[in-house]
Amino acid sequence: MSRISIDSTYLDPFFNEEEVSYLEPLANIANKEMLLAHKGPGSDYHGWINLPKDYDKEEYARIVSSAEKLADKIDVLLVIGIGGSYLGTRAAMHALSDSFSDSLTREERGTPQLIFAGTQLSARYHHQLLQYLEDKRFAINMISKSGTTTEPALAFRLFRKELEKRHGEDGARDLIIATTDKQRGKLYELAVEKGYERFVVPDDVGGRYSVLTAVGLFPLAVAGIDTDAILEGAQEALKDAELPFEANEMLQYAAMRHALYQRGKSIELLVSYDPRFQYIAEWWKQLYGESEGKDNKALYPASAQFTADLHSLGQYIQEGRRHLFETVLLESETSYDLSIEKIAGNPDGLNYLEGKDMFYVNEKAAEGVSSAHRDGSVPNILLRMPELDARTLGYLFYFFMRSCGVSAYMLGVNPFDQPGVEAYKSNMFKLLGKPGV
Ligand code: PA5
Repeated sequence: MSRISIDSTYLDPFFNEEEVSYLEPLANIANKEMLLAHKGPGSDYHGWINLPKDYDKEEYARIVSSAEKLADKIDVLLVIGIGGSYLGTRAAMHALSDSFSDSLTREERGTPQLIFAGTQLSARYHHQLLQYLEDKRFAINMISKSGTTTEPALAFRLFRKELEKRHGEDGARDLIIATTDKQRGKLYELAVEKGYERFVVPDDVGGRYSVLTAVGLFPLAVAGIDTDAILEGAQEALKDAELPFEANEMLQYAAMRHALYQRGKSIELLVSYDPRFQYIAEWWKQLYGESEGKDNKALYPASAQFTADLHSLGQYIQEGRRHLFETVLLESETSYDLSIEKIAGNPDGLNYLEGKDMFYVNEKAAEGVSSAHRDGSVPNILLRMPELDARTLGYLFYFFMRSCGVSAYMLGVNPFDQPGVEAYKSNMFKLLGKPGV
């Protein structure tokens, strides 16, 4: 049984198993011929497929040892990057850290804090970040595959200047790590010129498929996350990806969402019942949005955090326009049981829950919601997994990347380009007066 399994209980009235099995040949072609035999468009970017086992072991050893050395010297690691160059790190960090770790001191936490910059162009955010860093020892991991993306490049300029002001060019050199292309690009050139430690975003791995490279692994290792376990989870998923369709949840997930799209659904809402999934949803939205949203096609990837959003979006989901379905991420257990005790007089009317725990109540909420939403014509695909630890997260990352590659090929689009991202950039550059634009 694979680590993530599909429960189709709440898909029942919308399509039957047979309908998904009609898509089996298409899913198999997308998987075997287009992805694995590298015949699909964008095959120059298939490097992520076998990465969990074929990663650069020598570089990984350097990632772990450099991370350990750096962690001892700093309070904060500033991770500068945007899109695929930061979302996976943020997702893992948020999912695997204590909910309140940001309010702990460096000593209490035991590891440096990760802070993200260059993910937008807010003057307020970056100004306040400079202030926040005033009394902190910080280093920079500048991450950009192309080396030219405006948002992170601008933030890098700002915070590099601050490091150089404090430590001089020589001192700053030991506190800046560049993760970029192996041999080209502005960041590569700058890193070589200044002598920064460098890690590589492989040529054949695009940004949104890069979480299992140095892009994600180095900052996570600095923050004390178990990157070995993340890689092991991804290896397990890679093995499961070889299973035939009937036992392969990655292919089935791709086929199910394709079937729902064909039936006229246009929005997929990724839903979870614990805030730790919040940035996993952000990473997932980029993965599917950039991989599939082209040629005027594809499901719009959206997300909701339950039960909080049941008190905001819940009404729409239950009774608004019937153009969505939900994919629900469910943990089957928790290490954090909070038992509910009886109170004399039952002032809040909750004594009927005596002896139950909060996780149980959350599970019942999920069950009740899926059944109500199904009754409201919102199909639910449930993805069940063990408690989300580093290994399961590694599995989940690979699960979604592999399904996404298959799903995009089933849809007939190139999963590995993003031509639409250029339009805003050229307008912005014209307005800013960039030479040559
Ligand atoms: O998935 C992608 O390719 C993009 O989202 C990129 O990750 C993002 O645009 C950042 O690009 P770069 O790493 O070149 O700065």
